Amino acid sequence: MKLLEGKRGLVTGVVNHRSIAWGIAKLFHEQGATLGFTYHREKKWVEKLASSIDADFVENCDVSDDEQIKRVCDLFGSRYESVDFIIHAIAYADGNELAGGVINTSRQGFLHTMNVSAYSIIPFCQYSRPYFREGSSIISLSYLGAERVCAGYNVLGIAKAALETTCKYLASDLGGEQVRVNAISAGPIRTLAAFGLPNFKEMVEKRAGQSPLKRNVTQEDVAKTALYLASDLASGTTGEIIHVDAGYNIMGTWTEEVPCT
Ligand SMILES: NC(=O)c1ccc[n+]([C@@H]2O[C@H](COP(=O)([O-])OP(=O)(O)OC[C@H]3O[C@@H](n4cnc5c(N)ncnc54)[C@H](O)[C@@H]3O)[C@@H](O)[C@H]2O)c1
Repeated sequence: MKLLEGKRGLVTGVVNHRSIAWGIAKLFHEQGATLGFTYHREKKWVEKLASSIDADFVENCDVSDDEQIKRVCDLFGSRYESVDFIIHAIAYADGNELAGGVINTSRQGFLHTMNVSAYSIIPFCQYSRPYFREGSSIISLSYLGAERVCAGYNVLGIAKAALETTCKYLASDLGGEQVRVNAISAGPIRTLAAFGLPNFKEMVEKRAGQSPLKRNVTQEDVAKTALYLASDLASGTTGEIIHVDAGYNIMGTWTEEVPCT
């Protein structure tokens, strides 16, 4: 049985085949979902990827503009009659803001990062609300930098903390309608956005050895948890931040010695 048969939803945040959102989209398609995509600037690639899984809903949407979000939600909702899931996989911070540490963050850089990376999930829920059904599921992507100081993550960590808390409040607001809102806190994955982070390459290399599972996670690992959250399997789960990070977040200290057998 396909877990998402009859479900239709919007996937944001695909820029190329490495995008976490693309890994999710592929698995959702295999599991019977009908998908619509939003893109920001890179139309050609997203159209190509979408057509490879028979999706022809591909709309431009800069998430710093409410009108564009409303337009996409209405277009999708009126065409497919319901929005059963939304994948919110968007983050942005200017490289100069990240490089200077939080101490040097500008007001404008702070607000823009928050606007795109945290606030944007609210209008997606607001404007899709008329199209939600019982069991609709909103899934966002977060990172450990929301909970702890992660070198180089800086203002993005602040935005992810706001995003995680926003998900919990949205879960409370929409819970009465049996609409669920959760976030996946993913370990580092080599994507376009991630390569813009200072220390990313070094961090990925180190973390594999420091994680309980002794590896990094993949797009597929994240996609499988997203599938669970979008499906009826997660009918009683909302307001959660689920780590998909090979267990890295549980670690406090490390030893060079071989672990206990
Ligand atoms: N790659 C990682 O290591 C990692 C780890 C944890 C969480 N995440 C999160 O996963 C999500 C997806 O990122 P990714 O790593 O797949 O990288 P990615 O570069 O593939 O995706 C980032 C997306 O954000 C979009 N975006 C940026 N500004 C936008 C705007 N104003 N309007 C609309 N879209 C905009 C880009 O177009 C792109 O599609 C992000 O929220 C990111 O923080 C990534």
